[in-house]
Amino acid sequence: MSWAVVTGASSGIGEWLARGLARRGHSLWLVARSGDTLTRLAKELTDAHPDIEVRVRPCDLSDPTARAALVEELAAEPIGVLCANAGFPTCGALAENDPARELAEIQVNVVALHQLTLALLPGMVRRHAGRVLVTGSTAGLQPVPTAATYAATKAFANTFAESLHAELRGTGVSCTLLSPGPTRTNFYGAGGIPRLTEQRILAWLTPQRVAEAGLTALFRGRRTVTPGPVAKAQALVGRNTPRALLFPVLRGAFLPRLRKARSHGR
Ligand SMILES: NC(=O)c1ccc[n+]([C@@H]2O[C@H](COP(=O)([O-])OP(=O)(O)OC[C@H]3O[C@@H](n4cnc5c(N)ncnc54)[C@H](OP(=O)(O)O)[C@@H]3O)[C@@H](O)[C@H]2O)c1
Repeated sequence: MSWAVVTGASSGIGEWLARGLARRGHSLWLVARSGDTLTRLAKELTDAHPDIEVRVRPCDLSDPTARAALVEELAAEPIGVLCANAGFPTCGALAENDPARELAEIQVNVVALHQLTLALLPGMVRRHAGRVLVTGSTAGLQPVPTAATYAATKAFANTFAESLHAELRGTGVSCTLLSPGPTRTNFYGAGGIPRLTEQRILAWLTPQRVAEAGLTALFRGRRTVTPGPVAKAQALVGRNTPRALLFPVLRGAFLPRLRKARSHGR
């Protein structure tokens, strides 16, 4: 039986990663804080795919003690696939943001990804078999005023995943970066800007499409996948535009939203 771990499996991209892995015959560990939601998903998946087993493992990944217990538990299991997907943004002027939430964001988006990978990778390398999917973001390819911590955490995820991809060549283990652009999930609600998804200016992708693109790339051992034309354009511009040209555009794009949010109390 092949086991996969999905963090952030209670909604959005992670929920669809879990569905896609179940359809491909993988048994699952589902990780997030919302235990009831994970239990409902586990029932749906085992009803649809009676050959797989699904374990629900509620965990607040921002809590170092809870996270350490999870990491220890998973390190002892023969996990073949890790989808390090859980994450959330904070938005607004950094000086006005809650320092505790900024720290929690780093714990979830960076430290949990790092610890889980370090815990599961040695077993994968020993077995000469394993796949790691890291959910980074196009937001990590350039500075993002009003989302400084988020952009920095995703720069870590992006670089970490691509570095591992190169390092693991020839080991039987692969690491793939899933780099989504705008995807219609609870993500913007978590960041305090739920109404952004009502705007039609962006070509929103569904989490199902993003997750499927991620899994296809993962099982082909690809370095990276950036689903959809908007995300691809963002990636091209973010990676290649000189900062001197990019900054006025970024300020023009993000700072008016901040001023508007302030005047409307968000
Ligand atoms: N949506 C986008 O436009 C977009 C774009 C680029 C990258 N991404 C990335 O995609 C990934 C998935 O986000 P999504 O869009 O699917 O958003 P989502 O629907 O809000 O899902 C986020 C998931 O992360 C989990 N999570 C958040 N905080 C957690 C914590 N402290 N401990 C454990 N789990 C936690 C949530 O579960 P609980 O709340 O139940 O804990 C949920 O399952 C994230 O890494 C995000 O940065 C999203």
